[in-house]
Amino acid sequence: MALSIGTKNINTAVFISGTGSNLKSLIKFSNLKKSPISIKMIISNNPKSKGLAFAKIYKIRKKIFNFNKQAKTEKEILELLKKKKINLICLAGFMRILSKNFIQSFKGQILNIHPSLLPKYKGLNTHERAITNKDRYSGCTVHFVSAKLDSGKIIIQKKVKINKKDTPRTLANRVLAEEHKLYPEAILKIISL
Ligand code: GRF
Repeated sequence: MALSIGTKNINTAVFISGTGSNLKSLIKFSNLKKSPISIKMIISNNPKSKGLAFAKIYKIRKKIFNFNKQAKTEKEILELLKKKKINLICLAGFMRILSKNFIQSFKGQILNIHPSLLPKYKGLNTHERAITNKDRYSGCTVHFVSAKLDSGKIIIQKKVKINKKDTPRTLANRVLAEEHKLYPEAILKIISL
């Protein structure tokens, strides 16, 4: 099912690999009255993801998948998502690259947040690269996921000024604070499109 105008109660799965601060902000957003999403599931490839703790705190079902055999695992995930009637996937610090096949099965219904002003700095170490290149701004982007890494249609972006004294870490912290606001904004934006 494609997302359409006025859609409410969109059953959502959030995929994480690490800290899960974007997951937390999405959960808080989903609990607001104005929110069109309902987070039904947290999926991780990493049993040590700190963000998995939010499953217990907010009483959301979680599932950990081993991606060593990715094709088989993706098949299992797809079955689970279909069974749970999930129609939106939010990747939030999910560190595996999903296959073309998987993305095709959820076409137009997978979002990702990336810590750069795409199309600049696809991939990893985005803040380090922005500082090394003496960019004036870094930022974050929410985009639809396509088969090519960090290249799907951009939904929304937020610029963050780079200060002279910034290290990749200080910059990452400021950008992350903006990410927490941007992901919910992106969801509201695609729903009203
Ligand atoms: C974020 O910066 C996100 O943009 C990137 O990985 C980080 C994940 O942070 N893809 P968290 O796990 O949401 O705290």
